Amino acid sequence: MGIDLAIIGGTGLYQLEGFEVGESIEGVTPFGPPSAPIRCGRIEGRKIAFLARHGEQHQHLPHRINYRANLWALHAAGARRIVAVNAVGGIGEENPPRRLVIPDQIIDYSHGRFDSFCDRADAPVEHVDFTEPYSVSLRQALAAAAAACSLQVTDRGTYGCTQGPRLETRAEIQRMARDGCSLVGMTGMPEAVLARELKADYACLAAVANWAAGCGDQVEITMEEITEHLAAAYGDAHRLLLALIHALPAS
Ligand code: HPA
Repeated sequence: MGIDLAIIGGTGLYQLEGFEVGESIEGVTPFGPPSAPIRCGRIEGRKIAFLARHGEQHQHLPHRINYRANLWALHAAGARRIVAVNAVGGIGEENPPRRLVIPDQIIDYSHGRFDSFCDRADAPVEHVDFTEPYSVSLRQALAAAAAACSLQVTDRGTYGCTQGPRLETRAEIQRMARDGCSLVGMTGMPEAVLARELKADYACLAAVANWAAGCGDQVEITMEEITEHLAAAYGDAHRLLLALIHALPAS
């Protein structure tokens, strides 16, 4: 069974517009249950799989998501090309709220998450190359899809992954900016490296939900603001994903 494209939905993205689910794959992996059933179906004739990273009722906190089960289940379903949609805070001026970003680098500030499939008694020790944490070809395909629907996107950036669930302090964001981060989110890792261990093509489509702490004029970041900006950004994300799917070779 092959899947042409798998999409992992982040905060606020629990289903795909116009996606008719043909089959749902439920079940437990060697690492426990994934966040939600994998919804499989077709869009424009292409086989698509969708997984809600936080669960379909948003019941899993970022640091408690079973990333290994999610990636394992997608891989077992036949996914070899994965676009991960992540809500993020924008750090640099090029990433204001509502902007879609295709980052090219990661700095991982999270801790205590299971971040390798090798972490099992019977698994061989492997040190995967992670110089380029995202698939270059899939990033290019995302950028081309954005251009095809005349969407302004930022086509590079460094995703800093924090532990959550709290948002960051101003000083933490200043430090991340000095480190070179242009985005901050809580779910980019270990998802990306687990995809790499499974040799899947994986790229991130980040949706800027707010200015990161201390970056805009706002005194505090509110959930209302995040929800409003994300809804707008996801409208664009859906268009972009449809253009990406349209450009995939038919299977
Ligand atoms: N920080 C971390 N994660 C986030 C943010 C943020 O400001 N916005 C959306 N996800």
